[in-house]
Amino acid sequence: MTAAPFRLGWFGNLTAPNWRSGWSEDATTWTDARFYVDMVRAMERAGFDFMMLEDSLMVPDIYAGTAELELKHAVYAPKLDPVPVVSMLAYATEHIGIVATASTTFYPPYLLARAFATLDHVTRGRVGWNVVTSSEDRAAQNFGMDEIPEHDRRYDVAAEFLEVTTKLWESWTEKAIVADPESGYYADHTQVNPIHHRGEFFDVRGPLNTPRGPQGKPVICQAGSSPKGRDFAARNADMLLTIPNGLEEMKNYRDDIRERAAEAGRDPDEVKVFFVVAPIVGRTDAEAQAKYEEFLADGQHNFEFQMCNFAATMEIDFSVLDPDLPIPEDVTTNGHQGQFAIWKKVFGDRSIRDAASAMRIASLELIGSPTTIADKMDEAMEYVGGDGFMFLSQPPSRSYISDITEGLCPELRRRGLIRTGFGHRTFRDNLRSF
Ligand SMILES: Cc1cc2nc3c(=O)[nH]c(=O)nc-3n(C[C@H](O)[C@H](O)[C@H](O)COP(=O)(O)O)c2cc1C
Repeated sequence: MTAAPFRLGWFGNLTAPNWRSGWSEDATTWTDARFYVDMVRAMERAGFDFMMLEDSLMVPDIYAGTAELELKHAVYAPKLDPVPVVSMLAYATEHIGIVATASTTFYPPYLLARAFATLDHVTRGRVGWNVVTSSEDRAAQNFGMDEIPEHDRRYDVAAEFLEVTTKLWESWTEKAIVADPESGYYADHTQVNPIHHRGEFFDVRGPLNTPRGPQGKPVICQAGSSPKGRDFAARNADMLLTIPNGLEEMKNYRDDIRERAAEAGRDPDEVKVFFVVAPIVGRTDAEAQAKYEEFLADGQHNFEFQMCNFAATMEIDFSVLDPDLPIPEDVTTNGHQGQFAIWKKVFGDRSIRDAASAMRIASLELIGSPTTIADKMDEAMEYVGGDGFMFLSQPPSRSYISDITEGLCPELRRRGLIRTGFGHRTFRDNLRSF
């Protein structure tokens, strides 16, 4: 049985690519973003719908009260600001969508609306916005706050933020620019209107001083997994990024989002769900398995890497806990709640060290030859119902990207499982095309 075609995306980190191999100059030259230009071109050629650029706004020093481990592994810092990098990636490509992360807790809505309207123009309608509320006190402290606002309140702010930016994007109608030498009018002032928004969190007069972009509104991407986050996403998002654990939870998550979208009066097919995977690809199953063994043999590195992850996104300092015991029941987070719940489940009864040393962040374990992995992806989509996968490799390397784009993707394409071209001009239209 073959699933209907599905979509591919890439979770991009604008951080140091895999520098530990010692083989590549990218370790120090990545900051000019040409590494990412090569990457996005490879993805476009391979049939990806989008490359997403994650972001956060801090140098985490939660684990053991120091940034030592974080900077040692270059997990969340150093990194580049995704918003300006979108322009460069779009200039180097023709069709692929490019999604930049920006936080509703820190950006003022007017600046964000203007930045993304600008990006929508310069990408010719290919930009997406990953709407995040952020989750770190360390980031809040860079913006005059002592701590990050409470989890559900952040979503209330995000909802009003999106309302304001949408009004701003609509403050120029499609008829606003006439550019008519005969009448002498460039823009028609009756088609450019203040928004006079006065709300609980924001007062914004408008209009925007950037005209309406080709998509009107950027593609809205979201990754909420708590009930509040799911509601927000189902109401507003064109696409969702998520890491439920295993086929059953993947199906439940997608069904739940589609139900919430229908309840909010939307067509559920307008909300595409992307599941995070991190395939280990080899020419043969044995070669892939050997790569996996190599990963497991790097246990201490993996452990330290995951400790940085927990510390940065959940602000949980595991250095005060006994690594040879499971996560204590009473540990909670004001950060990524849905993810923490899943991770706690994945850890199960295993010790923190044991689980973190072998942990791979993915909805499905995909290890094998392109044929083996394509079979599993096909079966998963058949069972779950759609809509696609997002590849995550932290950090990426040229050889890993090539495993996916030159190894796995041609196999998926041969089976008719991924797109063979782009029928539309804008990212949103391509996203909705099947
Ligand atoms: C695949 C994926 C990518 C994410 N990317 C970012 C990001 O770049 N920046 C960020 O602050 N949060 C990011 N998040 C966190 C989400 O925006 C959200 O806060 C998190 O999934 C927890 O959802 P919840 O607050 O509804 O529990 C990401 C989450 C997932 C699952």
